[in-house]
Amino acid sequence: MDREKLSEAASKLFIEQCKRHVFLCVGDSCCRGDEGAEAWDALKNELKRRNLSLSDSPQACYRTKVQCLRVCMQGPILVVYPEGHWYAEMTADKIPEFVEKQIVQGTPIPEWIFSTNPLG
Ligand code: FES
Repeated sequence: MDREKLSEAASKLFIEQCKRHVFLCVGDSCCRGDEGAEAWDALKNELKRRNLSLSDSPQACYRTKVQCLRVCMQGPILVVYPEGHWYAEMTADKIPEFVEKQIVQGTPIPEWIFSTNPLG
């Protein structure tokens, strides 16, 4: 393992500054391919627009696109840590409100959440 190169990569990604990590499923068992792609683009763009991605902002958020979170229905499924809130039907139109409330304000949106399990 080349720790120096990895450390450099982590630094460029602001990994140690992130306060939250969002996983968004774009797999075709829980949503149409175009729905997943649009939701992912919306998440990327909204975090970037607000300077919350690759940033040392107090609300900095890491994002990861995944192919399955094992729920496989009513997607796109999204989970955010450390809160461990699981969101359903996170289509692109919902992403700006999600970012504003959950990521910026730290306020979950109960009507979109179907399960919660904070880790740690
Ligand atoms: S394909 Fe999205 S949860 Fe399985």
